[in-house]
Amino acid sequence: MAKIIGGLTTSHVPALGAAMDNGKTEEPYWKAVFDGYERAKSWIVEASPDVIFLVYNDHATAFSMDLIPTFAIGCAEEFPIADEGWGPRPVPTVKGHPDLAWHVAQSVILDEFDLTIINKMEVDHGLTVPLSLVYGQVKEWPVRVIPFPVNVVQYPPPTANRCYNLGKALGKAIRSFEQQDLRVVVFGTGGMSHQLQGKRAGLINKKFDLAFQDKIGPNPQALTKISHLEFLRESGSEGIELVMWLIMRGALSEQVKEVHRFYHVPASNTAVGHMIFESQEA
Ligand code: DHB
Ligand code: FE
Repeated sequence: MAKIIGGLTTSHVPALGAAMDNGKTEEPYWKAVFDGYERAKSWIVEASPDVIFLVYNDHATAFSMDLIPTFAIGCAEEFPIADEGWGPRPVPTVKGHPDLAWHVAQSVILDEFDLTIINKMEVDHGLTVPLSLVYGQVKEWPVRVIPFPVNVVQYPPPTANRCYNLGKALGKAIRSFEQQDLRVVVFGTGGMSHQLQGKRAGLINKKFDLAFQDKIGPNPQALTKISHLEFLRESGSEGIELVMWLIMRGALSEQVKEVHRFYHVPASNTAVGHMIFESQEA
């Protein structure tokens, strides 16, 4: 059986990847950010997942205006690291888990959520930066990863409510995998408030972010009511990435134990938020 151990959310700011790749993590500006990930490093060892189900968004890297899946699942054996303009990050190729991925695709599609099945894809900072934050610099990732990209780049992205309900279907799908005993951790990356473009570039909304962190554990239903317009107004044009946190949350049990919470500004243009939850499975 597959068991969901817990979930982890984190911003995926590309400059954090560059800081790690270029040996800058001890510089005061960056150290203040990386200190918030110490708990994740010990927690992931305790949780010892076999598979990370990694919900993130592609940033017009694997996809373009040619093809825009709302929800997609990576079923390949492996996923190369994308070149986002400075060459691919010096991190290992991501190894998938095709058996679990295909099982989840079947279960979730039969549960009436349409997924795009992907058998060839490069992965960008939305996926690699969170892995580096948790596992540090490694020769091989010590875990299999199922990439689950969600469109938040081209309007219209999926609603918060649909994302939360999709998370529930994903949780059910993962729990019903019987072929192998697997420990699974679900990641939801992106957020928190940030805007990278236009007149409001640099927007940060601490009040909104902290309220989101307060609610996601005990009362995610409240967050499912946030409309696209409210995300845009309150959390900036890229704050919509927070829907990935709701997919993660939906996959966990109704009640969860919050293990860790971190919030930090400044880090590039984004309010960095990071949380860890343990799922209370039967
Ligand atoms: C930044 C944050 C993001 O989520 C992203 O995808 C790109 C850049 C930033 O803060 O620089
Ligand atoms: Fe992003």
